[in-house]
Amino acid sequence: MNRLHANRRIAKISWIVATLVLIAAVARPAVATESPTQLYLVGVGPGDPDLITLRAIDTIKRADIIFCMESIKERFSELMQDKQVIHGYWRLFPFYGQDIEDLEGDQRAEAEKLAVRRNEFIAMVRKAVADGKTIAIVDSGDPLIYGPWAWTMEEFEDLKPVVVPGVSAFNAGNAALRRGITNSDFTNSVILTAADWEGKTDTIERLSTHRTTMALFTMRTEFEEFIRKLAINYPAETPLAVVKFAGYADREQVIQATVGTILEEVGQEDLPFEYMIYVGDFLNFRYRKEQ
Ligand SMILES: C[S@@+](CC[C@H](N)C(=O)[O-])C[C@H]1O[C@@H](n2cnc3c(N)ncnc32)[C@H](O)[C@@H]1O
Repeated sequence: MNRLHANRRIAKISWIVATLVLIAAVARPAVATESPTQLYLVGVGPGDPDLITLRAIDTIKRADIIFCMESIKERFSELMQDKQVIHGYWRLFPFYGQDIEDLEGDQRAEAEKLAVRRNEFIAMVRKAVADGKTIAIVDSGDPLIYGPWAWTMEEFEDLKPVVVPGVSAFNAGNAALRRGITNSDFTNSVILTAADWEGKTDTIERLSTHRTTMALFTMRTEFEEFIRKLAINYPAETPLAVVKFAGYADREQVIQATVGTILEEVGQEDLPFEYMIYVGDFLNFRYRKEQ
């Protein structure tokens, strides 16, 4: 009798457990059914390697294949040591999405050359994804601020790529200046810009009419050309700073001047690729001057 009773209890408990499991399965929130992302665009910050984020480290660790510039591989050699790292596809964005038929002469020849390289790269990425590999395209700074790989997010939209944001040279430059980039007597805004590229309407001269704070990514453009254009609308006494090697503890350097004096201040010095120009009242050095 006792045994029969025990068996009934076990059967009842089993039934309750099975019911609970079923309820849990039905009530569980929907999980993504598609395969996990295999393509990442990862920013690793400017300057020293310790400006990388934990998320970027984790993503690189999980990647099978990495596309990046050689200098990035050198900077993160330990992190990338077991990976297949591919160089040589860095600057493929020019003419992307443009109809080559509309171009002529040297431009057309250049666009055709780049299209061949781009197609080679696209085929490699698609094959790797088809083979079940995880790919990380790794770029310095933040990959979507003047990032040469930004076009890949459009190209591979169907693969649902994920972007891992990075600390931009803009952030590191702000830190070097130790001033609130959005604080000033006259303006709360910041314009991020670069040289006056052909075909764009947002020229430095137009952008500067409101004398808004401006941070300029320089990309090898003539320094004097920037200053000449800034001087059209910013008064000569407007504070201006050049930040070299932002984010490198041992190399970072700030040159403080004004729109009117910066050329003299910089003199014949050859500025490196990694420098930014900041202009605006937020740089006001009055506190320091008063001391
Ligand atoms: C192609 S853009 C890339 C910007 C990058 N995506 C970022 O968010 O920092 C390159 C330009 O960024 C600026 N830059 C990059 N690294 C820098 C650094 N460590 N210090 C100062 N400027 C830097 C320079 O103006 C350089 O010409």
